[in-house]
Amino acid sequence: MKIYMAPMEGPTGFVFRRTYNKYFGGIDRYFTPFVTGLNLGAKEKKDICPENNPGMDVATQILTRQVDEFLSVANYIHKEYGYERININLGCPSGTVVARKRGSGFLLVPEELDNFLYEIFEKSPIKISIKTRIGVESEDEWERLLEIYEKYPLDELIIHPRLRTDFYKNDIHHECFKKAYESSKHSLCYNGDINTVEDFIEIKKRYPNINAIMIGRGLLRNPFLVEEIRQVMENDILHGKENVIKKSGKNRESCDVKTEVHLTGNERLRAFLKELENGYLDSMPDGEKNTLAKMKELWVYLGEVRPEHKKALKEVKKAKDLDEYHAAISSILI
Ligand SMILES: Cc1cc2nc3c(=O)[nH]c(=O)nc-3n(C[C@H](O)[C@H](O)[C@H](O)COP(=O)(O)O)c2cc1C
Repeated sequence: MKIYMAPMEGPTGFVFRRTYNKYFGGIDRYFTPFVTGLNLGAKEKKDICPENNPGMDVATQILTRQVDEFLSVANYIHKEYGYERININLGCPSGTVVARKRGSGFLLVPEELDNFLYEIFEKSPIKISIKTRIGVESEDEWERLLEIYEKYPLDELIIHPRLRTDFYKNDIHHECFKKAYESSKHSLCYNGDINTVEDFIEIKKRYPNINAIMIGRGLLRNPFLVEEIRQVMENDILHGKENVIKKSGKNRESCDVKTEVHLTGNERLRAFLKELENGYLDSMPDGEKNTLAKMKELWVYLGEVRPEHKKALKEVKKAKDLDEYHAAISSILI
């Protein structure tokens, strides 16, 4: 079973991905936050280009309902960067995106989606995977969507089993994922609410033969989560329980370029955060202000699993510059 890092507009740009890969690793494939439009902008190129994603398997994600936009980006990343796959975002729940029938809004017009997929599968120079929700407002929409997805030779079907109206909350619709698990010919990836090792074990029990899991907020809250999950996988191999999981050992070696895993606990987290901060300072205009905002954004997630540091977390939130921020986190990561 492979492990993917979810695309997250904001937190998981290239500086985060490459620093995470160096300090924690264990990720078989990284997905870029979505790109849009006919041509990639400078910021998008910087995020996607192989030089900024060294030693990592990266899939570019696109948000579109236009065949020409899709083909323009797919051709560009194939020719310029040598990428062999692209992922389509059919999950974004944001109001403005949905209003333009993109992201999860594209699920509102299944016939148009079907036509779009028909055309791009005819013409795409590279493999196509889909990351989808199960519908917009009702579980009843899923059957039709699944029927459409079954018609095409997808590289992989990544399912976040929530409706658009659930946004990132509410219970997971396991019945819908199960329907795909039992009937789909596609290689499946499960995504949603894997925040602890126990969550992973539960998913593995429910869906032992899926190809991959994708983790987003869980690894922002606890960057050690993937390592903890890998340990469970390795124990299963040792005890001969899981032949599917054995495959992941090989995949892992190929993506395993991390160099700092010998550091333990808070020592590693501190070194990771420092390098992340330096990476942001180097890569963004108006370095300090934007860097502070990025570090605070990450601390919203790190803070969720550190409620005992309420006061210091408030100081992080209030910090006006990097010195104040360093002072605030020093009492958390002792
Ligand atoms: C801040 C934020 C930004 C996100 N950006 C994207 C995105 O660009 N593309 C996408 O497909 N999903 C995006 N997502 C959804 C995640 O990829 C993932 O599907 C969702 O968080 C559920 O997985 P999790 O419970 O492991 O976090 C985003 C989620 C969050 C919280």
